[in-house]
Amino acid sequence: SFPKQVRLVEVGPRDGLQNESSVSSGAKIQLIDLLSAAGHQYIEAGAFVSPKWVPQMADSAQVFAGIKRHHGVTYAALTPNLQGYAAAKAAGATEVAIFGAASEAFSQKNINCSVAESLQRFAPVLEAAKADGIKVRGYVSCVVGCPYQGEVTPSDVAFVAKALLDMGCYEISLGDTIGVGTPAKVNAMLDAVLAVVPKEQLAVHFHDTYGQALTNIYVALSRGIAVIDSAVAGLGGCPYAAGASGNVATEDVVYLLNGLGIAHGVDLTLLAQAGWFITRELGKQPSSKVGLALQAKCSQ
Ligand code: HMG
Ligand code: MG
Repeated sequence: SFPKQVRLVEVGPRDGLQNESSVSSGAKIQLIDLLSAAGHQYIEAGAFVSPKWVPQMADSAQVFAGIKRHHGVTYAALTPNLQGYAAAKAAGATEVAIFGAASEAFSQKNINCSVAESLQRFAPVLEAAKADGIKVRGYVSCVVGCPYQGEVTPSDVAFVAKALLDMGCYEISLGDTIGVGTPAKVNAMLDAVLAVVPKEQLAVHFHDTYGQALTNIYVALSRGIAVIDSAVAGLGGCPYAAGASGNVATEDVVYLLNGLGIAHGVDLTLLAQAGWFITRELGKQPSSKVGLALQAKCSQ
C-alpha cells in the first residue's frame, strides 16, 4: 500500500551539478539555500571524490562552508573512500553516502575497482563514521541496466544492497543510473531486493532518460517504499554513464505526491523557483514539465 508520507532526497546540487561545467560555488550555495527554504529536509550538497575524476565537485568544501544551515536539514556528501570521508567530515557534512554498483563494469568505470574491492574500501568509511556518530547512506547503481554490460540481474542488486545494509548503512538507495527501467523490470528488481532489505530501509533513485521515472516511482510507492531521490529541474546525469539524462525532476515528483495526497513538506512554487534559478545560471530551461508549467510564477 502507499505510504502516507515520503522523505524527499534532493540530489540536484550533487547528481545534477556533477555533470555541469562552470557553475560557480556561489550559485551552488544559493541553490542549496533556495532548496532548504522550499522545505527540503535532506539535500545532497556535494561530493568528496577525486577532482581528476569529477572536477565539477572539486569545490564541495567551499560550498559546505557557504550554505546557511537550516535547523533539522541534513546536508549530505558522497564519499568513495576514507580520504573523501575525512574531507566531508572536516567540511561539516551531516551525513555521508558510499556508492557501489550492481554491475562490475560500471564499478570499474566509476570508482576504478571491482564490486568486491569497493565493499572492502567502504568498510573503513563505515567504521570511522560509526565512531563519529555520522550516518551513512548506501547507493547501488545500475539496478535495472548498465551502460557497459547491459543486463543486470535482480539477484546481483539484492546481493550488493544486502551487503551495504549489513555493513551498517541505514538506508539503501536503488539507482537506475541510466534511466532504462520500466515497471516490469523495476518490480522484478524490487522482488529480489525486498526479500533481503526491509522496505523501511529502501529509497529509489531514478534517472529519466526514457521518460519512465515517474511511472517507476509510482511502482515503488505502491510497494511501500517511502524515500525518493530527485533533482530540482531534472538536472544532471552521470559522467560515467554517457547519454544518461538527469534525475527525475523534484517538481514532477512533488506534483505526483500532491495528487496522491502523500505528505512531503516541500513548497512547489518555491521549489520551481529554485529550478528556474539554477537553469537560468546554466543558460537553459528546466527539464521538469511542472517547472515549465509554473514558469509564470518563476520570473526573476
Ligand atoms: P583512484 O585513482 O583509483 O584512487 O580513484 P587512488 O586511491 O589510487 O588515488 C589516486 C589519486 O586520487 C590520488 O591523488 C588521491 O589523493 C586522489 P594523486 O596522488 O594522484 O594526486 N583521491 C582523492 N582526491 C580527493 N578526494 C578523494 C580521493 N580519493 C583519492 N576522495 C576514486 C578512485 C574512487 C577516488 C575515483 O574513482 C573517484 O573519485 N570516483 C568518483 C566518481 C564519481 O564521483 N562518480 C559520480 C558519482 S556516482 C553517481 O552519480 C551514481 C549515483 O547518483 C547513483 C545512481 O545514479 O546510480 C550515486
Ligand atoms: Mg544518480
